[in-house]
Amino acid sequence: MNNVLAVDPQKVPVKKLRSGNAIPVVGLGTFGSDHITPDQVAEAVKEAIRLGYRHIDCASVYMNEKEIGGAIKEAIDAGYCTREELFITSKVWNDAHHRVIESCEQSLQDLGLDYLDLYLVHWPFPNYHAPGCDGDARNPDSVPFKAENYLKTWNDMETLFKQGKVKAIGTSNMTIPKFEATLDKMEILPAVNEMEIHPCFQQEALFQYCVDKGIQPIGYSPIGSPARPERDRTPDDAVDIEHPVVQQIAKRLGVHPAVVCIKWAVQRGEVAIPFSTNPRNYMSNLAAVTSSPLTDDEMEAMKTVECGSRLIKGQVFLWEGANSWEDLWDLNGEIIQ
Ligand SMILES: NC(=O)c1ccc[n+]([C@@H]2O[C@H](COP(=O)([O-])OP(=O)(O)OC[C@H]3O[C@@H](n4cnc5c(N)ncnc54)[C@H](OP(=O)(O)O)[C@@H]3O)[C@@H](O)[C@H]2O)c1
Repeated sequence: MNNVLAVDPQKVPVKKLRSGNAIPVVGLGTFGSDHITPDQVAEAVKEAIRLGYRHIDCASVYMNEKEIGGAIKEAIDAGYCTREELFITSKVWNDAHHRVIESCEQSLQDLGLDYLDLYLVHWPFPNYHAPGCDGDARNPDSVPFKAENYLKTWNDMETLFKQGKVKAIGTSNMTIPKFEATLDKMEILPAVNEMEIHPCFQQEALFQYCVDKGIQPIGYSPIGSPARPERDRTPDDAVDIEHPVVQQIAKRLGVHPAVVCIKWAVQRGEVAIPFSTNPRNYMSNLAAVTSSPLTDDEMEAMKTVECGSRLIKGQVFLWEGANSWEDLWDLNGEIIQ
């Protein structure tokens, strides 16, 4: 861990959310691939906080909130920061859309916190009776998105916000048609939408839609998730960190291509949540936003990297009768049910 430079958290820019709180533009992701243990993630969280991270992206389905809670407590007890200086996100999983309040209570208990800074509906596809996904298998209890069901779930999110148990509420993996079917019926609008964004998959239309509606985009898999599980790999997937434009900019700056992805994301206006358990890597991701930016020409060149390569396709959330993962993403502008 020696030789890894700390970053002054005061130098990390924040984005003010419509809920009133401010989110640091880089957070540490906590969904590790299969070979990473919860203790390894927790160790990374504690060390990352010591070295300057203040924003941690968690979720109940990552099955490591207890360990991360221990790490947060140790970090606070060690005097690295106060609770108030941290920004902690969690998410309600697909099997708990009908018991959002209990699910949030469980995450609070596991994380050892009195409140969350942000709580998200992880995916808009409920499966009411079975937990998670198992490898490649479809979950027989998955059902399609229905606006009326989502709005019931959202109503409980709003209750949590009004109770002060969560300081902001948001969505994840939404599409423009799904927003169009729900936004104007919500009492409290989402502060953020967490969505897949990386240079090869920029989601420009959804990104702009969110910005126009005052919904802060949070980009997940910002480096192109090089260690994602086998179930999320297909031969056509693009590799962001191998793209010549990304590599050329990395060469000019003398950094790993991953750092270019983070710089690009934040300069574009996103919040990015890269995962890493390697202190050198996660600190270079945080330092990316405190050093010189990409030039205007480089930002223009990054637009050409886009090739529509969605990596996290969500195929395990397909319901009986749906044809392909593409049905999840409303590609024709209509919600398929
Ligand atoms: N809302 C959702 O539905 C959703 C879905 C997927 C992910 N997420 C969130 O987004 C987070 C990040 O996504 P992700 O884990 O899929 O992908 P990612 O952040 O794009 O990629 C993580 C991988 O990149 C490597 N890496 C990170 N920084 C690096 C650097 N500076 N140099 C070289 N390699 C580097 C890491 O390896 P090392 O550990 O070796 O550094 C790790 O294997 C997740 O952890 C999770 O919190 C949310």
